[in-house]
Amino acid sequence: MSEEFKLSRRKFLEKVTVGIGGVLTALFGIPAAIFVVKPVLKKDESSGWMRLGSISKVTPGTPTLFSLKVERETGWITDQDEIMVYVYTEDGRDYAVMSNICTHLACRVRWIEERQEFFCPCHNGVYDKQGTVLAGPPPRPLDRYEFNIENDDIYIKVG
Ligand code: FES
Repeated sequence: MSEEFKLSRRKFLEKVTVGIGGVLTALFGIPAAIFVVKPVLKKDESSGWMRLGSISKVTPGTPTLFSLKVERETGWITDQDEIMVYVYTEDGRDYAVMSNICTHLACRVRWIEERQEFFCPCHNGVYDKQGTVLAGPPPRPLDRYEFNIENDDIYIKVG
């Protein structure tokens, strides 16, 4: 083998080593950088306020159901949750935004128009239209969301 060939072989191996190092850096470094930077960017993007919908959908005296899709990140995993809330007003001026999750063991409650109450089918929990416990095992009223009304839209604070 000539000296020239050995030298070019050495250079070739150097380039292969540098190339493999670059590929490994890209494989592990880029996802790691995204993992660190993305949550910071995402906080600025949403700040937790999400639009529920038009407040004009809410009929005074009747809790109205709204749903919202929310992406949640846990480490590398992104899940999509559906949040369902009831918006209630008695007079069209003061509103309450209540979770539909029972405060006993987290089943979903639903509004029963004929009985004018929220009912939880898991253990017969009953709440009034303001979310106050009327019967059953729930230890406290339905949880409420912080909300904001701008123009015709209602926003809730999520997270
Ligand atoms: S989970 Fe609702 S009453 Fe038990």
